[in-house]
Amino acid sequence: MKYNFDEVIDRTGTYSIKYDVAPPNAAKDLLPMWIADMDFPCAQPIIDALHNRIDHRIFGYSNYFFPQVKQPVIDWFERRFGWTIDFNDIVYSPGVVPAISFLLHILTQPGDGVIVQQPVYYPFANMVAARGCTVVNNALKYEDGAYTMDYADLEAKMADPANKGMILCSPHNPVGRVWTEEELKQVVAIAQKYDKWIISDEIHCDLIRGGYTHTPLLKLCPEYKHRIIACTAPSKTFNMAGMQMSNIIIPNEEYRQKWYAYTMGELSISSPSPFGIVAMHAAYNEGEDWLNQVNAYLDENVAFMKQYLAEHLPEAHMVESQGTYLVWVDVNAYCSDAKELERLMLEEAGVYFDEGYIFGPGGSGFERFNIACPRSILAKSLERMSAVLKKYAGK
Ligand SMILES: Cc1ncc(COP(=O)(O)O)c(C=O)c1O
Repeated sequence: MKYNFDEVIDRTGTYSIKYDVAPPNAAKDLLPMWIADMDFPCAQPIIDALHNRIDHRIFGYSNYFFPQVKQPVIDWFERRFGWTIDFNDIVYSPGVVPAISFLLHILTQPGDGVIVQQPVYYPFANMVAARGCTVVNNALKYEDGAYTMDYADLEAKMADPANKGMILCSPHNPVGRVWTEEELKQVVAIAQKYDKWIISDEIHCDLIRGGYTHTPLLKLCPEYKHRIIACTAPSKTFNMAGMQMSNIIIPNEEYRQKWYAYTMGELSISSPSPFGIVAMHAAYNEGEDWLNQVNAYLDENVAFMKQYLAEHLPEAHMVESQGTYLVWVDVNAYCSDAKELERLMLEEAGVYFDEGYIFGPGGSGFERFNIACPRSILAKSLERMSAVLKKYAGK
């Protein structure tokens, strides 16, 4: 089946955070390019499977612990990445963000330090702070318009006994890096030297630009599996975030028992929605064709955007997109005042971005574009942004 991702589907009136929620001062016909869900319809097998489930007419509690429930997760990662996951290591979470929060509860005490690599997905720092821990920034290096890790700084921070571990974003949101095997091995070598845990958030692992390959951390470094936890989900991959279905891989038996005691015991979170299970099964078992088409469309959106910016906003720098559908654009040359930039975009351009500064130090003067939308919407957002920035900067 060939999908038409150019189709514009009206999402208003669906209680959508992206389309039905806007900041108070924003222009009326606001284009939402911020929160990370897609404007593409789900794969047909997911729609069909949900229809079938609805036709059953009873929607009671579901049990996650049947082998059949987790098997499609195991099959997907084996088939796509050659990563063999043990059935017992997989635990349920309604989301990756809640999972990281649960893990911080298990792995830290208030006052501990937790390393993150900013600019990074802002809930990481928020959750660390909410746990009463210290956000320790191993800032990414931005040189010649590209991002790399600062290993010397990471080592200094890992060596500090106050810092207990790190949250790794792989692939990295918002800078779009797909970390190489060498980069990931360096991180693990440093963590191993100081015996620190790593939460590896791999939620974007399936959204990879042509020519790049994502490497699951647990596959790459099985010798350190007792200190690595991987967060996976079909939610970003298949545009089903609202299904609240994610699968967390915890090979360490002690951590897993703590996970169960905390999530199922104290918090009493146990069963996923029947729709989450059904949608995940259809996605992982039959959604590959759709995903390949989405990735091809995203490759074209990236190329379109690069061309557009080169022509119309030549002093903007679009950081190379290797993975995720979030594109990170440096517009400091046009407006380096982060708050003014936000106002210009929301009130004058009528485009709602995740502003760079919310991702922490190093993010100011950047816009994060969610390009998982029809090309016509992407084009409109680029036109609006370019016109306002050029006028503002007098360029
Ligand atoms: C790196 C990263 N982790 C987690 C999430 C959200 O996960 P969930 O909706 O499963 O809580 C996002 C969403 O944008 C993300 O970019």
